[in-house]
Amino acid sequence: MRIFLDTASVEEIREFVDLIDGITTNPTLLAQAAKPFREAIKEICDMVEGPVSVEVTALDAEGMISEARELARIADNVVIKIPMGTEGIRAVRALEAEGIPTNVTLVFSPAQALWAAKAGASYVSPFVGRIDDRAGDGMELISQILLIYENYGFKTEIIVASVRHVRHVVEAALLGAHIATVPPAVAKKLFHHPLTDEGIKRFLADWEKVPR
Ligand code: E4P
Repeated sequence: MRIFLDTASVEEIREFVDLIDGITTNPTLLAQAAKPFREAIKEICDMVEGPVSVEVTALDAEGMISEARELARIADNVVIKIPMGTEGIRAVRALEAEGIPTNVTLVFSPAQALWAAKAGASYVSPFVGRIDDRAGDGMELISQILLIYENYGFKTEIIVASVRHVRHVVEAALLGAHIATVPPAVAKKLFHHPLTDEGIKRFLADWEKVPR
């Protein structure tokens, strides 16, 4: 499973740039980065080898397509994030036909994910955390999408998004999701376990007792 970092902060990306497989941004994350938008995207794309998702803000297909063409010119690794909806799906079909990769975002149901795949999206982003926040089952959605995609041999890759904790990442991996996009705080936790720290401490203490 590939791990993307869900941030637009250059400082946070720098910490993991050699370990992660890509980046996802959204308007909220870009607002937090507090830098001129195109400048921030260019800087991120230059740092990261993998795909960098950048979201359009137009609400009609035509507007999304022209925004996407402009964003795609920033760097070769830009992936256009398109909000789910009929206009979004029209835009995905047109952009993928032009060779511009898309990531259908704000997906909360298997039917929406089916449309994303039928339109030929490169990626789909189901938001598991926001579903769990409302007492739903985000991971159940992932397993349903995986089954639907397997049934028809769809090539669209699933990015498990809106990740809140390590268990989301582990469950995504157990289900066989292609990618999880994780906030930096969760990315850090993926490496750690208290028994690892305790084990290192004990081994180092014992090493001091080894005759040399
Ligand atoms: C994914 O592409 C989104 O940027 C992100 O995962 C949204 O997460 P949130 O629900 O924590 O805002």
